[in-house]
Formats: sequence, structure tokens, C-alpha cells
Amino acid sequence: MLEMVKYLEGQHAVVTGGSRGIGAAIAAEFVRRGARVTIMGRSAETLEEQARELRGERGVTVSVEECDVSSADSVANAFSRSVSTLGPVQILVNNAGTAKSRLFTQTTLADWNDLIGVNLTGTFLCTSEVVPGMMQAKSGRIVNVASTAGLRGYKTMTAYCASKHGVIGLTRALAQETAKHGITVNAVCPSYTDTYLTSLAVQNIVSNLHKTETEAMGMLTGVITRGTLITVEEVASAVSWLCSPDASGVTGISLPIAGGEVQ
Ligand SMILES: NC(=O)c1ccc[n+]([C@@H]2O[C@H](COP(=O)([O-])OP(=O)(O)OC[C@H]3O[C@@H](n4cnc5c(N)ncnc54)[C@H](OP(=O)(O)O)[C@@H]3O)[C@@H](O)[C@H]2O)c1
Repeated sequence: MLEMVKYLEGQHAVVTGGSRGIGAAIAAEFVRRGARVTIMGRSAETLEEQARELRGERGVTVSVEECDVSSADSVANAFSRSVSTLGPVQILVNNAGTAKSRLFTQTTLADWNDLIGVNLTGTFLCTSEVVPGMMQAKSGRIVNVASTAGLRGYKTMTAYCASKHGVIGLTRALAQETAKHGITVNAVCPSYTDTYLTSLAVQNIVSNLHKTETEAMGMLTGVITRGTLITVEEVASAVSWLCSPDASGVTGISLPIAGGEVQ
């Protein structure tokens, strides 16, 4: 275990989709590193539950904001309240996301709009809230939780892959615009990670391909060269490093956390 240096002390970090899964692990890692953290998501109840857990032992500052990242009004209101409560945002992690598995021929416009709206437009809207302030401050860190689906294609995932390829395009282009302003913009690209989203993927394979749960899980872990799911802590520590002073020279990258699946 690396030494627990509080290199985020004094910083306000916003994590969208911080109520469970990868986002909750990132929020917990930020708290350990000394940041004041706002977690955002659509359910106030789940957010409060997660915040209580984070505040628990340590008496740290964790705030919650109800927010649907696909809605411009909801995002503007949530960020305005968050800045009033914990001050200007120095770190933004665009993690809120959704996934759905459909053959392309069965993908409806509603499916498409839902995935692009949350995964890609949500990233655009939240990022738009923080970039002007970061430019003024001449510093800031933005990390987008993309996916290996932003780096390669998967069958039955056209809308999801398109949304995550879009997130990587946004990351690369924005890094070019912000590098001279002391801001870094990076993406992390996990493969199948041990969360609710992956359990949905397992259930989907069970229902549609008539496999057992063990067989379905084997199909997912078989994609990852090391043969096991990525853990939420593995994603959180990569995100935390990208926000650390040690990563000040890193911008525009899309870092696979994929156990060898993509290189
Ligand atoms: N799990 C994987 O295998 C995997 C692999 C690669 C990348 N990722 C990416 O990692 C991110 C997190 O995934 P996860 O596996 O941790 O999923 P998860 O367990 O389902 O958590 C998703 C989080 O996002 C929030 N959320 C969903 N829709 C939202 C919306 N419209 N507005 C605001 N918040 C919203 C959820 O809270 P509410 O539902 O209460 O709003 C929840 O906090 C996603 O971007 C996903 O695409 C996941």
C-alpha cells in the first residue's frame, strides 16, 4: 500500500454518479486524500446513504447534490448549489453513466438518445460548468470515466460505444484547448468492473442467451486477459493519481484499466 499522502487537501472535488459503484469508490479515495467532496446523482436518498458512509469514521466534508446529468437545468442548479456550499470546483470526475445492450437493428432512437444524453451530453454539460472557473484559476483537473468501449467495438453495444468514443474525443480536444491554462483533462477506460452495471450485463446474457450466471460471468471475464473483473478500487486509484500533483504533465490521455484487454 502506498503511503496515504493527503495530496488533495484544500480542494473541492465533484464526482457525478458518486452514489455507488466506481463513483462511490472514487469519492472514498478523494476523501482519504483530503479533498472536500460533492457527490451527484438522481436519488437524494442513495446519495445521503453513501455520504453518511463516507463521513462516518473520519469527520470529513462530503456534500450531496441531486442532479440528472442529461438535463442542462438540473446540472446548472446542482453546480450552483455545490459551489455555494463547498466553494469553486478544482476537480471534476464525469463518472455518471448508463449502459444498455441491444443489437444495432433493435436499437431505437430512444435508446440512442438515452445513452448519448447521459454518457456524452452529461459529460459536456458538467464540464461546461467548471471550465471557465478553472481557466480563471489557472488550474484544474477533469477526469472522464469512459470505457474500453471508447477504444474498441463490442457487439450489441453500438450506442454505448458511440457515447464512450465521444467522451474520448471530447477529452482529447478539450485537453488541447486547456493545456495552457494549467488544466488537465484525461479519461480512464475500465473494462468490465465489479459493479451493478456489470451485474445487469450478466442478467442480460442469462435472459437473452440462456446461459447460467456462472457462464455469463465467464463470458465477461474471458474478455479480460487477466481473467478477472476490474475492481472499483483499481479505477479509483488511477483517477486519484491523475488528480495528484505527480500527474501535472499528463493531459489528453485515455488510460485503459483493462487487465490486458486493450493496450
Ligand atoms: N461497470 C463497468 O463494467 C464499467 C466499465 C467501463 C466503464 N464504466 C463506466 O463507469 C461509470 C460508472 O459505472 P458503474 O459501473 O459504477 O455504474 P453504476 O453502479 O450503475 O453507477 C452509476 C452511477 O451513475 C448515476 N447515474 C446514472 N444515470 C445518471 C444520470 N442521468 N444523472 C446523474 N447520475 C446518474 C447512478 O445514480 P442514480 O441512478 O441514482 O442516478 C450511480 O451513482 C459509467 O460511466 C460507466 O459507463 C463502467
